[in-house]
Amino acid sequence: MNQQHRIIELFVQQFGRPPEWLSAAPGRVNLIGEHVDYCGGLVLPMAIDRSTMIAAAIGTGGQKPGFARISSTAFQDRVDIPLDGSLRPNSKSGAHDWADYVRGVIAGFEARSGRLPAFDALIDSSVPVGGGLSSSAALEVAMATLLAGMTGDPITSVELALLCQRAEHEFAGVPCGIMDQFASTLCQQDHLLLLDCQSLEARQVAFDRKELLVLIVNSNVQHQLGGSEYAQRRKDCERAARLLGVGSLREATAEQVENSRDLLGDIGYRRARHVVTEIARTQAAAEALASSRWHAVGTLMAASHASLRDDYSVSCFELDLLVELAEAQPGVIGSRLTGGGFGGSTVTLVEASKAERAMELIAAGYLQRSGRACSMFTTRPSQGARLLLTKPSCS
Ligand code: GLA
Repeated sequence: MNQQHRIIELFVQQFGRPPEWLSAAPGRVNLIGEHVDYCGGLVLPMAIDRSTMIAAAIGTGGQKPGFARISSTAFQDRVDIPLDGSLRPNSKSGAHDWADYVRGVIAGFEARSGRLPAFDALIDSSVPVGGGLSSSAALEVAMATLLAGMTGDPITSVELALLCQRAEHEFAGVPCGIMDQFASTLCQQDHLLLLDCQSLEARQVAFDRKELLVLIVNSNVQHQLGGSEYAQRRKDCERAARLLGVGSLREATAEQVENSRDLLGDIGYRRARHVVTEIARTQAAAEALASSRWHAVGTLMAASHASLRDDYSVSCFELDLLVELAEAQPGVIGSRLTGGGFGGSTVTLVEASKAERAMELIAAGYLQRSGRACSMFTTRPSQGARLLLTKPSCS
């Protein structure tokens, strides 16, 4: 049974009536342009064909007026969220749970649209959690897409993505950039999204070659230090920008960084060098893709991984191993870590006819040398957030 049918059936089982609304938002994989979104850089993500879906109906059958009753199939959990404007950013330390992302989005809509109607909702996701594929952005964007539909709020895509990013900052305590929420919102089928994170200008780059596949390999490790190190990288970049006298590293040139080595110190210099070279690589990769220069794309992906490993220090043994194994396979065009790093996934461009064999050999090599199993799937660029079922607006 496909995900859409499954969630409708589960909604009926749980709430005793059919859903009126159904939203979907995909996870994303970033082809290149890593750890530059919060520096105003260029990124080149695409939506994967795995999504978070939310089925919903207005009203709670008289049981919980003034509340949203929301269940998650993945977490086998239900929360009742008050819709009286009382939600506040969550400053609790430690782990935040799935419902914090939802609360953040609801609070964002309450701030825009005032009181929301009571509703029941069921969340189901095929985006792997903890794999670096933005399951959290998919959840936020699916929730925001649902609420925009249910309330008739004329929110633009850019406003919606920014609202979701704010939810993640304030309610989940993650100081993320804007790439994930923009990708989940704006990506189109058969396209990569070239997003300028400074101007927020987004350009669709066609990527519809059926002879190529995007292979995602999940290392199945998530190193604990990832969260704190991410925030530290942001600070390192902000400091380097201040020292260089620019608003963000987007405005710095490679020459400026090279000439300021002593001023920046070793760490600052390396972080800044990664950012300026990665932005240039992303621009070059978008051009190479548009003219089908695959070899150039592969070389840029390899350089991106090396820079993330050596200058930005966000890789780990498992990700380096997956990239090394992928690069050794016939038909592989390029491979690199994708997302925040410290575990999670790699992204590999591979010729479709050679993908199966490459996958077998990567899996076997990874098991042999790391003692772990990886999980993997291939995808093509998919559609961003959308409503799959709508009722006339209640506003
Ligand atoms: C995470 C963040 C993004 C981005 C990437 C690294 O996925 O959520 O905003 O910074 O890491 O490119």
